[in-house]
Amino acid sequence: MQRLCLLGASGSVGESTLKVLRLFPEVFELYSFSVNSNLVKAKSIIEEFSPSYAVITSDEVDKTLLGSRYKNTRVLYGASNMSEIVKMTPVHIVVTAVVGSLGVLPTIAAIEAKKKIAIANKETLVTFGPYINSLLEKYKVTLVPVDSEHNALFQLVESQKRENIASLTLTASGGSFRDLPIDKLKNVTVEEALNHPTWKMGPKITIDSAGLVNKGLEVIEAHFLFGFPYEKIEVVIHPESIVHGMIELIDGATLMYASHPDMIYPIAHSLFFPKLTPKQLIESKPPKWKKLNFWEPNLKRYPALTLAYETGKKGGTAPALFNAANEEAVSLFLNHKIQFTQIPEKIDSVLQSIAVEYPEELEAFMQADIQAREFIRGNS
Ligand SMILES: NC(=O)c1ccc[n+]([C@@H]2O[C@H](COP(=O)([O-])OP(=O)(O)OC[C@H]3O[C@@H](n4cnc5c(N)ncnc54)[C@H](OP(=O)(O)O)[C@@H]3O)[C@@H](O)[C@H]2O)c1
Repeated sequence: MQRLCLLGASGSVGESTLKVLRLFPEVFELYSFSVNSNLVKAKSIIEEFSPSYAVITSDEVDKTLLGSRYKNTRVLYGASNMSEIVKMTPVHIVVTAVVGSLGVLPTIAAIEAKKKIAIANKETLVTFGPYINSLLEKYKVTLVPVDSEHNALFQLVESQKRENIASLTLTASGGSFRDLPIDKLKNVTVEEALNHPTWKMGPKITIDSAGLVNKGLEVIEAHFLFGFPYEKIEVVIHPESIVHGMIELIDGATLMYASHPDMIYPIAHSLFFPKLTPKQLIESKPPKWKKLNFWEPNLKRYPALTLAYETGKKGGTAPALFNAANEEAVSLFLNHKIQFTQIPEKIDSVLQSIAVEYPEELEAFMQADIQAREFIRGNS
């Protein structure tokens, strides 16, 4: 039995991970999980899976609601307990499905404890990439990516000799406004932005997808996961979201990874890795793949993608600035404080105003993250 610690169990990736656990109760057991403030979800997870530990990270919840009423589940409060539950000896696999760069401390704890890590929390990798990679090398730990594009690339890259791979390609659905005239982007509403054409995801990543900020974060994530230079990481729009990643080989051929656009595929793969998921996940014929479209992104529509490449190439603390500025800007947009098109403008203003540093230690990356947030808050 493989015991799981699931951070961010109440979110979209958390929910899909629980679906996978329900499909394989003889293989995986939920040992512990965290939510931020969703006590209703926490209660239902405790009652269904009877885990040993539940962590509620928000300080603003009523601690008497879950209390000590569960015989088999100890409920812990406070964000630092995420790092405590990932380290526990019975845990075999840690799934990091919290949103935002705050996922860094439990990720570090999981690496130091040499756990198998299925990572969905891309903001941590983008913000702290050089530091996380140095830890992975020191502790000889591999991250298995849960992000569907990176999970696809992980499987493709694994199948080839590295010197035979010419480049990597991430596909992008194009988000909620793929077909909207560019001059209309300024006035889109939060509700429209949250209406993603193919994926059902949490609010932050759905907004990120609408402006291709998400793809920008993923380009940087791919750089840190696979070590390819930015010149060899490409993005194509693929509205059907059936092909998730491609690698081009030196002989000019392309290998593609395709599956239903459902997160249970990459999640199950990351949990079973290095084995393959032993049974069909969705009991139906493949969707109608008669017509698959691919085209280059229009960079006028998606200025954040250009910014992300520039940021990645600068390196150092630049991705930390990009990510934190974006987290703050998305939150402002979701709270109706700025327009959609101001998100890349806010990111750019941070990148223009705060100097990039090239540190090795964690604190300097954290400092860049804080500086960017303070800059946005001070200028809004
Ligand atoms: N959704 C997808 O299909 C998808 C695909 C690929 C990658 N990802 C990545 O996976 C991560 C999670 O995405 P998601 O869409 O699942 O997000 P989501 O639906 O918004 O869920 C976020 C989870 O994080 C918890 N959380 C929020 N704020 C927190 C805080 N301050 N401290 C601790 N926990 C906190 C939430 O708890 P509460 O519910 O209690 O607030 C929830 O469990 C993101 O990094 C995203 O980029 C997502």
